[in-house]
Amino acid sequence: MTPTPEAVGRLYDDLLEAELEGGAADPNLHIGYWDTPDSPVPRAEAVVRFTDEHVRRLHVTTGDRVLDMGCGVGGPALRAVDLTGAHVTGISISAAQITHATHLAKSAGHADNTKFLHADAMALPFPDSSFDAVMAIESLIHMPDRERVLNEARRVLRPGGRLVLTELFERAPRPTRRHPAITEFCRASMVSLPNADDYPALLHRAGLRLRELLDITDHTVQRNFRELADLVGDAKGLLFHPRDLVGVPEFGCFLAVAEHP
Ligand SMILES: C[S@@+](CC[C@H](N)C(=O)[O-])C[C@H]1O[C@@H](n2cnc3c(N)ncnc32)[C@H](O)[C@@H]1O
Repeated sequence: MTPTPEAVGRLYDDLLEAELEGGAADPNLHIGYWDTPDSPVPRAEAVVRFTDEHVRRLHVTTGDRVLDMGCGVGGPALRAVDLTGAHVTGISISAAQITHATHLAKSAGHADNTKFLHADAMALPFPDSSFDAVMAIESLIHMPDRERVLNEARRVLRPGGRLVLTELFERAPRPTRRHPAITEFCRASMVSLPNADDYPALLHRAGLRLRELLDITDHTVQRNFRELADLVGDAKGLLFHPRDLVGVPEFGCFLAVAEHP
């Protein structure tokens, strides 16, 4: 059964609470991006670089309005403000994440150029054409109706505005039997993986023009989960163990850029 947005919200509320009990919450809830597989860049830096790969494709500048759909605790939104001077609105289905993101923005001196709201990306509480760009970093994987989300992204974008998103996905060729580690990851993390082959049509049905669809697996997934596995070691209470996804070549990540015509 597909998890409801409310269930996903509770999952992220609980994860944040556990992190804060443990001392501190990671401002970025996504994988890293390395230029080459043997790049010496540490994971913490690669995680910020992953955000940068989205932000530079938004084509925004000082004063532009950006929506971060599925903003986590606000690390990417704050990075986007630092890099571009845009005003960033973040929404998340997790109320706890929104409280934390608001607090982080204030501490970073960005209370005036950010806003964080508890909302569902499938029913955005914004008028038509209210943003110059939309980003969605590893968030659509949790949303039960991608077509609706993409329609909403197009609706709130001004004509000419860009949507930049990343999704985890199963790469071709897919084995006839799904790898058990992928099944377990999807179950435990309340994720559904899209079929990249369907994505151009999905974007077109939502009224968006595809500009770029890039398999970035070799820059991201395998190294990310290998390093994460070393980092977490034998920690208990994890949703899934990252080591289980190491060496699963069909587990990938793509980046898509689309434009409101
Ligand atoms: C893997 S986290 C990524 C967070 C953030 N983009 C980042 O990179 O740090 C997924 C995010 O999507 C949000 N999310 C999932 N379903 C959502 C929905 N239906 N509406 C709004 N946000 C949602 C979660 O609350 C969470 O913040």
